[in-house]
Amino acid sequence: MAGRDLFSISEEIRRCTLCPLWKGRTLAVPGDGPTGAKIMLIGEAPGANEDREGMPFIGRSGVYLKASLLKVGIDPGAVFITSAVKCHPAKNRTPTLVECGMCRDTYLLSQISLINPLLIILVGGVSVRTLLGTGEMKEMHGKTIVRDGRTYFVLHHPSAAMRFPAIRAMFEKDLVELGKVAAKVLKK
Ligand code: URA
Repeated sequence: MAGRDLFSISEEIRRCTLCPLWKGRTLAVPGDGPTGAKIMLIGEAPGANEDREGMPFIGRSGVYLKASLLKVGIDPGAVFITSAVKCHPAKNRTPTLVECGMCRDTYLLSQISLINPLLIILVGGVSVRTLLGTGEMKEMHGKTIVRDGRTYFVLHHPSAAMRFPAIRAMFEKDLVELGKVAAKVLKK
């Protein structure tokens, strides 16, 4: 659509009825952060807290995620934070491939090209699958991937890191690498 900017995309998202997820939402969650952010972070889907407030990563996993970013020198307030899908799936089910593809093609790719970040942090397998197409978290986590001129870094989802000690250990190790990658990218 011509003449779209981040604000108008957010408005479209708030009114979206393209896939069945809209029926279960309270508020859609377009994303939040500076329009000129050098780093973007893409999660899976809004949870119940996010659905209530219309803001991304404001629940327990969001608090943990933002504190983790800060620990490695990334100011979460300077990051544009969003998710693969913008509406909360009932009972926290995983969004389907069709839902993710629809949301990606209609909104997420436009958000990425307007923000034009130097680094995109993908948190969790759903965002990896949505943007990179393939890849097992087992192999992808902690890696920097350059694809079509964009740089991605893959992290486990913070809610998995909070629940499973083995994933938490990988998450914390990968965060240190992310801090180094971000410092390098931001210096450019
Ligand atoms: N998990 C996500 O992926 N996004 C949110 O906004 C909250 C939890």
